[in-house]
Amino acid sequence: VSDPGAAVHADVATREQAAALDANDPLREFRELFELPPDVIYLDGNSLGPLPRSTRDRLRELVEGEWGTRLIRGWDEGWIDLPVTVGDQIGGLLGAGPGQTVMGDSTSVCFYKLASAALELRPGRSEIVTDVDNFPTDRYVLEGIAQQRGLEIVWAQFDRTRGPVADEVAALVGERTALVSFSHVSYRSAFVADMAAVTRAAHEAGALMLWDLSHSVGSVPVALDADGADLAVGCTYKYLNGGPGAPAFMYVRRELLPEVGQPIWGWLGRRDPFEMAPGYESAADARRLLSGTPPVLGLAAVQQGAGIVSRAGIDRIREKGIALTELAIAIVDSRLADFGVSVASPREASCRGAHVAITHPDARALCAGLIERGVIVDFRGPDVIRLGLSPLVTRYVDVWDALEVLRALLAGS
Ligand SMILES: Cc1ncc(COP(=O)(O)O)c(C=O)c1O
Repeated sequence: VSDPGAAVHADVATREQAAALDANDPLREFRELFELPPDVIYLDGNSLGPLPRSTRDRLRELVEGEWGTRLIRGWDEGWIDLPVTVGDQIGGLLGAGPGQTVMGDSTSVCFYKLASAALELRPGRSEIVTDVDNFPTDRYVLEGIAQQRGLEIVWAQFDRTRGPVADEVAALVGERTALVSFSHVSYRSAFVADMAAVTRAAHEAGALMLWDLSHSVGSVPVALDADGADLAVGCTYKYLNGGPGAPAFMYVRRELLPEVGQPIWGWLGRRDPFEMAPGYESAADARRLLSGTPPVLGLAAVQQGAGIVSRAGIDRIREKGIALTELAIAIVDSRLADFGVSVASPREASCRGAHVAITHPDARALCAGLIERGVIVDFRGPDVIRLGLSPLVTRYVDVWDALEVLRALLAGS
């Protein structure tokens, strides 16, 4: 795999050189599409993406022009189809052909639905494989399901600065494995798993594979169909900038759809919900994954955010994500290593997403100090500072300036 942005950082030794990269950035105009407070350097778009200006306008129009005037007629004028239309829009960003992706509830609930669905498809198998560094909600949901169903979790422990690798997964799966589930991009290290190879390892044991794409969608290329993924979920409030609590998506591979069931039999997952008939019969298409009334305001916001990502193009986004993270790593190595800061993300650009984890024994206090000085980052215990570099809004000078603030903190100035 080539690392298209890898050369960009090479000789950046001054702020002016970082500014020159911004001047030549093919995505530089996209930043103007977002509301960004002038007094902060925002390196947390991988927790909550910023507000697209068009979202503010669209939501006002929806609230005043649709809800305010059309009232319940809005459902027949497009609202009811939003879970599938927005789902297909997001599927398009993930290498998923139409009809396989729908918008649901929170990522946690979507994950519960698809994990449960997978287990129904593998009766008689007693194990679920995931890793100790998977995102907490994924671990907890799987633990809850295992307890309810009397199954066992097989905990993988990968190198913490990386994540799931196929040969280690292959060693953990077997004829008892029903489900394998990992994050495609690790929320801690930013490691990008090899989706095709890990999925193959699960399939060779006869298990189904469920991916969490929360840190992937809108930041790295994903090829769900081509890589043979069975099931996937992900949130839309990070790199898709869908807003706080924006609804998550669910993907089910086309061949599995007719057999897939899910545990929350709500009316909107039923064949013709408005018949209001007795008894539950799943919809024939991906609507069978739905349960209740779709969150229309949230979906309208996701539409805007995902539209901006489509216009920028995932290849250009990826290229800049690599260049930004390369720059951050180069600055850490050259200007912060002497203060005890080290990189805890993969150094190979091809297997690193759009954030960089750096470690320092005083990471918690340093994060607080950074935030106090207007540099918004995340702390991840026990010793990680996470720098989220959102290609559509983060500038090269932001990386430079943020790390200079960190350097000043470390130097006690
Ligand atoms: C990998 C991953 N999964 C799930 C979530 C969150 O789940 P939910 O949207 O249910 O809060 C996050 C949030 O940061 C995440 O990083």
